Amino acid sequence: MCGIVGYIGEKNAVDIILDGLHRLEYRGYDSAGISVLTDGELDSVRSVGKLAALESKLKTTPLSGPSGIGHTRWATHGVPSEANAHPHHDDPQAIAVVHNGIIENYLELGAKLREKGFEFRSETDTETIAHLIRLYFEGDLFTAVKRALQDVRGAYAIGVICSDDPGVLVAARSGSPLVVGLGKDESFIASDAAAILNYTREVLYLEDGQACEVRRDGYTVHDLQGVPQQLDIQTVDWDQSQAEKGGYPHFMLKEIHEQPEVIRNTIGGRISKDHSEVVWEDGLLDDSLLETCDRIMIVACGTAWHAGLVGKRLIESLAKVPVEIDIASEFRYRDLLIPPNTIVMAITQSGETADTLQALRAAKNRGATILSLVNAIGSTIARESDAVIYLRAGLEIGVASTKAYTAMLAALTLLAVDLGRRRKSLTAQEATALLTGLQQVPTKIQEILDNQGSILQCAADNRFRDANSALFLGRGYSLPTALEGALKLKEISYIHAEAYGAGEMKHGAIALVTDKLPVIFIAPRSATHEKIISNIQEVRARSGIILAIATQGDTGIAQHCDEVIYIPDCPEPLSPILAAIPLQLLAYYISVNRGCDVDQPRNLAKSVTVE
Ligand code: G6P
Repeated sequence: MCGIVGYIGEKNAVDIILDGLHRLEYRGYDSAGISVLTDGELDSVRSVGKLAALESKLKTTPLSGPSGIGHTRWATHGVPSEANAHPHHDDPQAIAVVHNGIIENYLELGAKLREKGFEFRSETDTETIAHLIRLYFEGDLFTAVKRALQDVRGAYAIGVICSDDPGVLVAARSGSPLVVGLGKDESFIASDAAAILNYTREVLYLEDGQACEVRRDGYTVHDLQGVPQQLDIQTVDWDQSQAEKGGYPHFMLKEIHEQPEVIRNTIGGRISKDHSEVVWEDGLLDDSLLETCDRIMIVACGTAWHAGLVGKRLIESLAKVPVEIDIASEFRYRDLLIPPNTIVMAITQSGETADTLQALRAAKNRGATILSLVNAIGSTIARESDAVIYLRAGLEIGVASTKAYTAMLAALTLLAVDLGRRRKSLTAQEATALLTGLQQVPTKIQEILDNQGSILQCAADNRFRDANSALFLGRGYSLPTALEGALKLKEISYIHAEAYGAGEMKHGAIALVTDKLPVIFIAPRSATHEKIISNIQEVRARSGIILAIATQGDTGIAQHCDEVIYIPDCPEPLSPILAAIPLQLLAYYISVNRGCDVDQPRNLAKSVTVE
């Protein structure tokens, strides 16, 4: 979270930084700011609110210059205010710092700096870095930054400029992502390559503990002790059009509609011609570990955790390997008992979520082998894993994750089938049935996308649109779908939504049921279909407003429900992919009908790089 962009070259840094910040606004948007160096002077403009507020301020206080840094903030320390907005400065206002992360020892450092006479103007942890750099500055910014960061504990990606050393831009990272972009007579820094794809595709992904002196015509990477570091230049192959809305009113809707293609990409080339085997690129993990591992432990956050819950059912049912699943922030702080022969699997769209990354590192320290499912190529989690299954979902910008979720489910299905085949718990015919079913999923998603009538109707219906609260219920494979449906609705429409196991409802949630409560049953054809029909009856007997997501042809269910949205038939293990689509669309259209900001929901950030 928090977006960082920096530029040094011949053009006006302000235009390039604002363009980059627009592409990073999904990371946080409660305040924004920009600093540039003009003729040896440091000038800054900061503003509370979204980037538009900064832009209108820049109209009355124009800035320009050949180097600068900018930031869009997701507040951690200190309320969103102009004083707390980045960039932060040292005392003579010659140094400007933008930061993503949390400096854990900022109070202790702040006390020492105050004793030395430094005055603080904000409540942020970031300001400490600006004063520390000033403390160590002797004419060379790169040296001062490296020295200052030796005193810092916590997570950071920073960009720094200084009017006393104007030819350089300094970047450094530990725990939060940062890329350096290399152009012709110009260089960039950004917290996400998407911010600079318009200008260059040649990037360096800084590693933890590295600092980079970025110049117009080159760069130098050191560790904090000043030891030179070798980093390969990588070429980003995303298409810039992926970072634009392509005619859709919101990124979320565009990404929902991309799902047929995304699933085709996720499974493309990974299924054998006769559909009976999974074929990974370049040998995934040590084959013997996949064949003999005794346990899999999944760690993830948010939507990725919901995908993990489906993954647990898939792997246990198809491959008969016991699976534990944890929310990453809990995993790290419990007594970790990781037996030998365990695979720890991190599932993550961004590959940068701090909790997931720390969980991965904790597992690695205890000797686990790490297999990750990651969307963002070159991300920290991808780099620190022993093996990576890439989701191939392309850039996801909508804060509410959609296409990455269904790509995770498709990849988990491939993995479960592969494990099942290797461990002989799945016959070739069973594998073929599932893999053939998986290949038909894109067409079936398209069918749902082409027939949104009942979804649009529900989203416009005031019983759903104006509800204060909603309950999502499912059993088995559909319980994670219920959790994901509830998350989507609350994230973007601010309707309180809760998800429950439909069988567990009678132990608590049923107390909430009134004739004002929408209850959404995820009820595709399944082994527990009759049980869920009984649960529907229990809600009906208490006058709840019932919407069911059911399988085409299940006409019987309609008599028990107020509304039904049908999805195409498929093997039960694949139903979470199809059932997710109407729930994404329902949340999307309810949010639009309520006038909410779909792509920039309140208080959320796409990539959460703080614990
Ligand atoms: C944030 C996002 C969610 C996402 C979660 C995990 O909370 O808003 O959409 O599911 O982080 O992100 P990851 O990148 O690890 O999948």
